[in-house]
Amino acid sequence: MSTTNAVEITNVHKHFGRIHALRGLSLNIERGMTYGLLGPNGAGKTTLIRSIMGLVEPDDGQVKVLDTVMPDKDIMGRVGYMTQSIALYEDLTVQQNVAFFAAMYGLEDDHAQAIREVLDLIDLADRADSRVRELSGGMQRRVSLACALVHRPDVVVLDEPTVGVDPQLRVQFWDHFHRLNAQGVTLIVSSHVMDEAERCDRLGFVRHGTLLAEGSASELLERAGTPTLEEAFLKYAEQGPTQ
Ligand SMILES: Nc1ncnc2c1ncn2[C@@H]1O[C@H](COP(=O)(O)OP(=O)(O)O)[C@@H](O)[C@H]1O
Ligand SMILES: [Mg+2]
Repeated sequence: MSTTNAVEITNVHKHFGRIHALRGLSLNIERGMTYGLLGPNGAGKTTLIRSIMGLVEPDDGQVKVLDTVMPDKDIMGRVGYMTQSIALYEDLTVQQNVAFFAAMYGLEDDHAQAIREVLDLIDLADRADSRVRELSGGMQRRVSLACALVHRPDVVVLDEPTVGVDPQLRVQFWDHFHRLNAQGVTLIVSSHVMDEAERCDRLGFVRHGTLLAEGSASELLERAGTPTLEEAFLKYAEQGPTQ
């Protein structure tokens, strides 16, 4: 049965040797929203994101994306992933990198048109023929974003997308994320800082592989009775996981 959820995570556990990275985490993300996964380094955000992408197979529990149990390679064309560390071919040009991802995601339409659009979006159309190694770090992050969006996915997962991105570009990224939401696209964005939390429709506080609390920024503040999200996080952390 089709649901209004883009992502359904049910009691997911993942171990790496003795590290218990995800500890029975459950979470639903509705279609068309921006969901922020917030938590310190080592909380399990990237592992959770990789399980949403089907790149990490849970030891227990289930991850469903667009009503499909992951991992499932047939769904790759409908999801986009911007990794935490830049994963581009440095010796290839911007255009060639984006074309590679378009092909990998199985884009069937006119690649040239889709690539032009996405390069315009990240404001790098004039650098299409530059090798990635010649670009600044911020520009490389923009190319990574282009690679995640070129096939017009329904669900986009962005792992710390605005780290190292200057303030003006951040505003542009967020404007675009909200435009995508308006088109029904679901965004999942992770961060270890609270700066951008209020731009998300809903937040999940993650620590030690568990979900501490979730809700809108204002709900989380109200329930914690704290003036800032940082303090709210600490309060929920003291109380321990809800699950
Ligand atoms: N491939 C891996 N092999 C071993 N340990 C891993 C691997 N991926 C993540 N971990 C461990 O799992 C925990 C959660 O990591 P991660 O999901 O990257 O957290 P975050 O993204 O929130 O910083 C950490 O202790 C990390 O060292
Ligand atoms: Mg991470």
